[in-house]
Formats: sequence, structure tokens, C-alpha cells
Amino acid sequence: MPLVSMRQLLDEAAAGGYGVGAFNVNNMEQIQAIMEAARETRSPVIVQASRGARRYTNDLFLWHLMQAAVELYPEIPVALHLDHGNEPATCISAIELGFTSVMMDGSLEADGKTPASFEYNVAVTKEVVEHAHARGVTVEGELGTLGGVEDGHGSGEVHLTDPDQAVEFVEETGIDALAVAIGTSHGAYKFSQPPDGEVLKMSLIQEIHRRLPDTHLVMHGSSSVPQELVAKVNEFGGALKPAWGVPLEEIQLGIRNGVRKINVDTDSRLAITGAIRQVFVESPETFDPRDYLTPARAAMQALIAQRMEGFGQAGHAGDYEPLSLEEMSERYATAAARA
Ligand code: G3H
Ligand code: 13P
Ligand code: ZN
Repeated sequence: MPLVSMRQLLDEAAAGGYGVGAFNVNNMEQIQAIMEAARETRSPVIVQASRGARRYTNDLFLWHLMQAAVELYPEIPVALHLDHGNEPATCISAIELGFTSVMMDGSLEADGKTPASFEYNVAVTKEVVEHAHARGVTVEGELGTLGGVEDGHGSGEVHLTDPDQAVEFVEETGIDALAVAIGTSHGAYKFSQPPDGEVLKMSLIQEIHRRLPDTHLVMHGSSSVPQELVAKVNEFGGALKPAWGVPLEEIQLGIRNGVRKINVDTDSRLAITGAIRQVFVESPETFDPRDYLTPARAAMQALIAQRMEGFGQAGHAGDYEPLSLEEMSERYATAAARA
């Protein structure tokens, strides 16, 4: 089946009461790991690419790799999503390339660092929604800012999402999904110890969901940073500092309270790096990239399959017929005419 609208994936997830992992990719092996995990667990899935990923793959490799993915795995509904679009032009170029969903992250200015005003955020997000919905493409917006700057994205300042503003933001922009800031951050170093309710404010999700029961919520920075993966990287010569992520039970609590999209990148990076380091240490004579990329891909596949089971998307690949983007754009037009 062709790439599917993310809105449809999330609507189905809401109806079924489960969450869908959105996994970042930068190369063929990561795409293959996700698709194999999706087949193994019969999961619909969101594959997402950041601006950095688009630069790294030069767009065209990414696009054709994704075409291979849908051709080789016809039974899997897959949405291709732009992660953290920094300005409308970035979202529009992704839509032109064929992405079925985009994130307009107007919580930060176009530099991806400076926290933006509410008015700026509404204006750029609304502009993207108008362009995207006319083409049947889904839009995710973000209100509030995550902590952390280690991947070059983010202000380093945490601004938790204000539930009242969230209602206004969704009404004014017409977004399909809302990324909320509840105390997580990108990267491996989210918390200095296992998080409690003071640093990871799941209560905020419950409050936002109560006010916006029909909006799909998105949790960024949702890697769990498994201790065994950190230990493995360090065992084989890595130098990661002590690191804690978001426990699966907290994500599952979120899923019971309107979270439908869960962003995971760091855990895949850790799985890949641990496997490669192990080969380098145990077989220093190795120099065929296949000798270390094969176990790296397998490690990421195992991690993703675990997440798919944990988020509840496993077993749902065959539940529905995909709608075309034309059908989605007609739905958006009909809903707008009714409003
Ligand atoms: O938002 C962060 C994602 O993990 C993507 O990271 O910008 O380094 O590709 P990246
Ligand atoms: P992690 O760094 O926790 O994997 O978060 C990824 C993310 O939010 C991508 O947008
Ligand atoms: Zn993110």
C-alpha cells in the first residue's frame, strides 16, 4: 500500500485505545529494522525524518528507500512524517517530496533554538495546516518547549505546556496532533535519576486530554534509555554518563490519556551503537561494514519490536483500509465547511 496519512493512523489508534511509535531514520538499515519489526509484530508505524536526516540522505535517497519499504511490506500501514520542521518552507518541501505528515514546530523560532511567542507559533502552524490539509497531509504542532540541546535542536529551557493555551492553540490552528512539553527532553540525558511525578508531569497530559479529548497528543523525548543498553555501550569502550529516560509504564499511562504518537530516536541510536562497539571490540580484525551493520540492524529491530508491543500498536496492521490523500483532503474540506 502507498504511504498512509498519519491522521488516519492516529484516528485508528484512538479508536483502538493504543499508541503508535514514531521512529527516526537516517539510513537504509534503520528503515529496514523498523519495517521488519512492524512485520514481525503486525504493526502500523510512523517513520520520521528530521531536517538533519533529510540533509544526511539528500532527500532523494530517503524517498526512494521509503518507496522500497512500502513495496516490500505491502501489508504494513506506514506514514512518513517530518520531525521538527523549523519553518513553513521546510514543511512545504517535505510535502512536495511526498511526506504524508509534517511537524511544524513553531514552539521555537526558525533557528530551532529561540523560544517563540504564542502568536508566532499560531501563525506559522496555521499557514502549514492550510497548505497541508488541502493536500490531505497531516500536521503536528508543538506548544511548550522540551529541555535539552544535545542534538542541536532545542532552547535548553523547559516551558511546560499550558492546558488553557493548548485549547486556544488547537482551535486557532486546526492541527491534527499536538506535541506537549511535560518535562521530557531529547537525547540520552533526560533525568539524573529515575523520574518521579515532579520532573515528569504525566498529570499535565491528563489535564490537557480532559480539555482536548479529540486531539491526538504526542510525546517527544520518549526514549526509555534502557540501563542495559547504556551499560553495553560503556562495556565496549563507550563513555556515556549515567542516563535515565521515560519508563514504559509512564508512556502507557499517557496512552490511556490521549497520547497517540510516541517519538523514539535515542533508544535506536543506543541499540545500534552498542552492537557495533561489541563487534569492534570482540572482532577487531573486522572491516566489512556488513559484519557490524547486520547485528546493529538486528539490535534496533529487537528494540523497536519491543516498543511496538509496549505501545499497543502490535497486531493492528490489518485493521483498516488506507484512505488516499485525496480522500483525506476531501474530509478536511468537508469538516471545514461544517465548522
Ligand atoms: O528531535 C530530535 C530527533 O532525535 C532527531 O534528531 O535532529 O539529530 O536528526 P536529529
Ligand atoms: P528521544 O531523544 O527521547 O528518542 O526523542 C526523540 C524525539 O522526540 C524526536 O522528535
Ligand atoms: Zn522531538
